[in-house]
Amino acid sequence: MQIGVLTGGGDCPGLNAAIRAIVRRGINEHNMRMFSFQNGWQGVLEGVPEPLTFETTRGILARGGTILGTSRTDPIRAAGGPDRVREVLDIHEIDGLIVIGGEGTLSAATELSVNHGVPIIGIPKTIDNDLGGTEFTIGFSTALDIATGAVDRFTIGFSTALDIATGAVDRLHTTAESHNRVMMLEVMGRHAGWIATYAGMAGGADAILVPERPFDINRIVRHLRRRHGSGRPFSIVVVAEGAVPAEGTVELPEYAKDEYGRPRLGGLASWLGPMIEERTGFATRVTILGHVQRGGAPNAFDRVLGTSMGVASIDLAAKREWGVMVGSNGTRVSPVPLQEATRELKLVPPEIYGVAETFFG
Ligand code: F6P
Repeated sequence: MQIGVLTGGGDCPGLNAAIRAIVRRGINEHNMRMFSFQNGWQGVLEGVPEPLTFETTRGILARGGTILGTSRTDPIRAAGGPDRVREVLDIHEIDGLIVIGGEGTLSAATELSVNHGVPIIGIPKTIDNDLGGTEFTIGFSTALDIATGAVDRFTIGFSTALDIATGAVDRLHTTAESHNRVMMLEVMGRHAGWIATYAGMAGGADAILVPERPFDINRIVRHLRRRHGSGRPFSIVVVAEGAVPAEGTVELPEYAKDEYGRPRLGGLASWLGPMIEERTGFATRVTILGHVQRGGAPNAFDRVLGTSMGVASIDLAAKREWGVMVGSNGTRVSPVPLQEATRELKLVPPEIYGVAETFFG
């Protein structure tokens, strides 16, 4: 059997662990021949698979990024894309694809699988953790550790033995306290505020702004004034890049678009910080974590998750159980239909945000 592997969308820590697991298990257990397509769907459309072997996947478990490269190319939007994907698999006699991706990459996988009969198994990854059908996505936990620095406090039922450098929220706390400032930390989270909510919760933020809950700047100002007036003259505000103001409050400036027509997020806090400073009179500083959250080595949890999902995906491929994504549920990894996984984004539920909110008052 011959299997192609690709990584698409934004990179994140833990992708190489999954690639390594797929290749080892595929060759060792299933006697498969493994191939890579470089740079996501773009590589499939170009149609030049490269052999993936023990040698090419050695020493990558702890390495960040993806050895396969990635892109946001969408094969559904490319002219003749679905036919080209099928043609490339036919020409190279590839029996199926393992597609490691986030919402965009796996939505394309779903369409190819359901409507074009392309044999695909998905593996969910994104630091945003906003994919359905899985409790966690590869990359989320490491991004969270970087954002909170609270590896040993923030395990959410999964332990991570790795001690990453003290993260941004903790670091901002001490400097905020020394200078009596408002420190605003912007984290990623385009549609869902998982990183912001959990990082804020673990780091003890005084306000958390997420896309799921349009914010009222006047409420934030009142809240910060109250807090500073009650003898706590510093505050930490964690902002998801995709947060939006409530209607009728302030007007968010238009974002520039990236080459795929998506708003190029990042910088919300730079707009909001001065406004908070002006309205509260409290010195405010802004930190935007940006792609730091996606770079660097995966923590132990992401290595284990990547490995478990990699093994599960190739075992399913061996049984030709296509059209599914391997999802995590507690300590188990099991298949869910791709359609189900990509039907809707997994947003932060009110009860989880509510836990974080308990500490804003
Ligand atoms: O992968 C998801 C994500 O990190 C989002 O949180 C963020 O908005 C986006 O990717 C950034 O994309 P790019 O790397 O193309 O700037």
